[in-house]
Amino acid sequence: MLKVLKVIAGVIFINLMIYLSWSVAFTIVSYTKEKRNESNVTAAMIHEGVLMGDMLALQHSSWKEGLERIAQHNHYSMLVRDAQGIEQHFGSNSKKYPEISQTSMQSIISGGTFTEIERSNIFKTGVATVGVPIQLDGKQRALVIQSETPSLYDHYGSQLLTVFLGFLIMFLGMLSFRPWKKEAGALYSIIEALRRMSKGDFKVNLYKNRHMNGQFGQLVESINDMASELNQMEQMRQTFISNVSHEIQSPLTSIRGFARALQQEGLDTEQRHHYYSIIETESLRLSKLSDNLLKLTSLESDQHPFEPKPYRLDKQIRRVILACEPQWVEKNIRMDVDLGEVIITADEDLLSQVWTNLIGNSIKFTPNGGTISVDVTSLSDGEGAKISISDNGTGISEEDLPHIFERFFIADKSRNRTVGGSGLGLSIAKRIIDMHHSDIQVSSKRDAGTTFTIRISNTKKINLKQS
Ligand SMILES: Nc1ncnc2c1ncn2[C@@H]1O[C@H](COP(=O)(O)OP(=O)(O)OP(=O)(O)O)[C@@H](O)[C@H]1O
Ligand SMILES: [Mg+2]
Repeated sequence: MLKVLKVIAGVIFINLMIYLSWSVAFTIVSYTKEKRNESNVTAAMIHEGVLMGDMLALQHSSWKEGLERIAQHNHYSMLVRDAQGIEQHFGSNSKKYPEISQTSMQSIISGGTFTEIERSNIFKTGVATVGVPIQLDGKQRALVIQSETPSLYDHYGSQLLTVFLGFLIMFLGMLSFRPWKKEAGALYSIIEALRRMSKGDFKVNLYKNRHMNGQFGQLVESINDMASELNQMEQMRQTFISNVSHEIQSPLTSIRGFARALQQEGLDTEQRHHYYSIIETESLRLSKLSDNLLKLTSLESDQHPFEPKPYRLDKQIRRVILACEPQWVEKNIRMDVDLGEVIITADEDLLSQVWTNLIGNSIKFTPNGGTISVDVTSLSDGEGAKISISDNGTGISEEDLPHIFERFFIADKSRNRTVGGSGLGLSIAKRIIDMHHSDIQVSSKRDAGTTFTIRISNTKKINLKQS
């Protein structure tokens, strides 16, 4: 705003300076021109007076009518005076005659001429007076002709208007055309950028020059921000699609391979069963993958039902541990469980998936004979629960640790591929914990073990009878 005012003030100042200098120059030029013209004006009038004299001398009696007609026609004031001092006036009487002295009059009558231009100031019209001898009715007389000369500033108004309009057009052109030229260019690049984005090309970065302040600059910035966000989303989408197709492709390849192997003749029952079980495992893997994908999409869409209600968290976790019993028993894993009585208000079904994945992971990544500890305690303020799930398994390296909640992330791929899983469990868990406005942390050391710590808020601890 201040900048605009400064520009307007600058334009007004420059204009004023131009008009002032132009007015002074106009006055000087007009004055010198007028001064040079004055002698021409009076000379022309004298010439006219002489012609009038010659013409009227022939008309004898009607010279008065003739003079009156000429005076009216030329807007002159005229005076005829004889040697006795008798005067006769013709034409308009409104003009003031200059004081022509007696001697000057006498010198005109006796054949001399008189010229004078009178102007009270340069802004007003002047009066040019000439005197010529004239012979009428056979008598020598003086003819005084008076005419108005225009003011020096007669054309000032129109010329000022011309200059004013000229500069106005110039400044308007400078003010509007220049930025518009730039903005029109920028506008074209914005349209081009939007066109590219509408075709799915988000690698757009519009150049914002220093003239693009205000709303135009904001528009350019917003388009750049939008393009960068869309580009990120597009990259995520592409990574997601390639991950999904990879995850689908590998079980399908095994299924196809073993299905073909089963067509061979001469396979014994044991081999056949082995192939069948691989096909079954891979089909289950595919089915779990599709389940997880649907779950993740639904959780991320904000449309997933979320029904928190109070329930016994410790009981829920015990159920999950018991459901996994075949796996940990098979690996001879020691389960160290310490479950306090805790009631939380949360979505029971959703949280069940979190514990299943975390405990499932611990079992998956802990070698035979390892130990898994599960602790559930109330938070000291009584408004939540802290759940900690630790194992002394493979652990996660420092570089992989920040990525484990990303979709399809599998740490130490070569080793963990053998244990199965598509790397979606933890992203689902993180999303569920986020929906509860709660927190999940992980600490891990390679070959030493991993601990997941979850703090569930929005929980209530109620003293319940032992169930
Ligand atoms: N307790 C753990 N010990 C060692 N590594 C783990 C542990 N928990 C998770 N990870 C690492 O984090 C990765 C991601 O875990 P996540 O649960 O998301 O996927 P997954 O278990 O491989 O597959 P899914 O859960 O989808 O079946 C795992 O592949 C593993 O590399
Ligand atoms: Mg998992």
